[in-house]
Amino acid sequence: MKLGFTPLLDTSSSTPIYVQLYQYIRSQIENGSIGPGTVLTSIRQLAQHLSISKNTVETAYQQLLAEGYIQSRERNGYIVLPLEQLSESLEHHTAASEASESLHKIAAAPSKKIKYDFKYGDIELSRFPLAHWKKCMIEALSHPDINVLGYGDRQGHEGLRTEIADMVFQSRGISCKPEQIVLCAGTQHAVSLLCQLLQLREKTVGIEDPGYHGVRTVLRNHGCKLVPVVLEKDGISLESLRASGVDTVYVTPSHQFPLGMVLPVQKRLQLLQWAADTRSYIIEDDYDSEFRYNSKPIPSLKALDRQERVIYLGTFSKSFLPAARLSYIIFPPELLHDIQDELQNYSQAVSPIIQQAIWHFMRRGDYARHVRRMKRLYQAKHKALTAAISLYLNERTEMIGGDSGLHILLDVKGKSRSSLIDHAARLGCKVYNPERHWLDPKCCPDSYIMIGFGGLSEEELIAGIKLLNKAWFSA
Ligand SMILES: Cc1ncc(COP(=O)(O)O)c(C=O)c1O
Repeated sequence: MKLGFTPLLDTSSSTPIYVQLYQYIRSQIENGSIGPGTVLTSIRQLAQHLSISKNTVETAYQQLLAEGYIQSRERNGYIVLPLEQLSESLEHHTAASEASESLHKIAAAPSKKIKYDFKYGDIELSRFPLAHWKKCMIEALSHPDINVLGYGDRQGHEGLRTEIADMVFQSRGISCKPEQIVLCAGTQHAVSLLCQLLQLREKTVGIEDPGYHGVRTVLRNHGCKLVPVVLEKDGISLESLRASGVDTVYVTPSHQFPLGMVLPVQKRLQLLQWAADTRSYIIEDDYDSEFRYNSKPIPSLKALDRQERVIYLGTFSKSFLPAARLSYIIFPPELLHDIQDELQNYSQAVSPIIQQAIWHFMRRGDYARHVRRMKRLYQAKHKALTAAISLYLNERTEMIGGDSGLHILLDVKGKSRSSLIDHAARLGCKVYNPERHWLDPKCCPDSYIMIGFGGLSEEELIAGIKLLNKAWFSA
C-alpha cells in the first residue's frame, strides 16, 4: 500500500480534521515535497492509514481540487498539478495563502534564472559512458552471490582493491598490495574512520590553512586538536609544521585545496623526513591528481615514502562519479597490522553491488578509457576558461592555482565578495564564496571568488566569463 504522507492531525484543535489535512497537503505541494505529477494516495488507503473517515479525506481532496492544486484523472485518482498551472481560483485565496505562495515563488526564482553555475564538485556528466556503466551494473547482479548481496569483505571487494593497487602504481607511482587498501564511502568517511582507528581524539592534527573544510569538519567533530600550518607559495611551510608539534598532519600536496599550488619534490622529501624524525603520520589527500594541465606529473608523496609514514587517500568522485561514493585509504603495512583487529569491528560502508560493478568497469578497461577522455575534455575546458579569463577579465583579476583540478580561485582586485556574488547572480551567473576553507573565514581576502568548471561546457564557460565581465566591470 502506498501511504503517501503522515501529517500530525490534532483532534483537540478547533480546526476540523479535513481542513488540517487539506492545509498539510497544500503546504507540501507548495514547498515541493509533493511534486507535480504525483498521484495522491487513494481516499480509501489514506483514510485507513490515518484512521480517519473516507469522507474527511474526500472533503480535503475536493478543496484541493477546487483550488487547482490537483486534478482528477479517470481511473488514475488525483494527480498533483504543476504550480504554474494553478487555476485562477488561487486569486481568491486567503491573504495568508497568497503570502506563502509568493514566498515560494520568490525562493524558487533565483535558481530558475541561473544560467551558468560555476559550482565546485560538478563534473561533466554528458560524456559519462552510461551504457557501459549500466552493463557493469547488470553484470554485477547477474551472478549474485553472498559477496554481492551480503555485507561484502570488510576492507572491500578484493578484485577492486587489486585494480586500485594497479591503477595507483601506474598513475601515482605507489607500490602497494591490495591488502593495504580499505574502501570507504567518500573522503569524509575515510577521515572519520582514520580518526577512530588511529584514536586521534584529543591528538594534535596539523591542517593546511586554508584547507579543505570537509575534512577539517570531520577532524574537529572527532575531537582532534586542530593546529593550522602556514602555507607558502609552494605549499605547506616546513618551518611552521616543525614548530607546531603535531602528531599527524593532513595535506593536499599534489593540488593544494583551495589555493592550488603543487608541493615541489624537495619539500615532499623534507615533509617525509619530518614525519620519520617525529614518528608522525601524514594523511595525503590526492583527490584530483588525474587532471593536470600545464605541469608534469609529480609522484605522490606516498610513492616517495620509504619510512611508511604516509596514509594515502584517493577518491572516485572526480575521476568517475560523486554518486559512486567510493574512496579508499592505503595504509602503511605496519600501521595496518596494528589496527587490523579493530578494523574487523567495522562493516564495509560501500555497497558491494557498486563495488562489484566498478570492478567490472575497471577490469574491462572502461575506467582507464573514461579517465583518458575526461583528461582531454577538462584540459579543453580549462583552456577555454583561462583564455576567456585573460580575454574578458584580463589584468583586473588574478587566477590562483589554475594548473590542475576542476576549480580555480579568482582574485577580483579591489572588489568585495558579496557584491561580486550578487552582481553575478543578477546576470544569471553563480559564483562561490571560498571563505569557509579558511580556519578563520575573516582571513580569506574579500576579493576571492571560487569557480568550479567541471560541470560547464566550453561554450558555457566562455559565455559565463563574458557575463561576469559585464556584471563586475560594466558601469
Ligand atoms: C580536498 C578534497 N578532498 C576530497 C574531495 C572529495 O571528497 P569525496 O571523496 O567525499 O567526494 C574533495 C571534493 O570536493 C576535495 O576538495
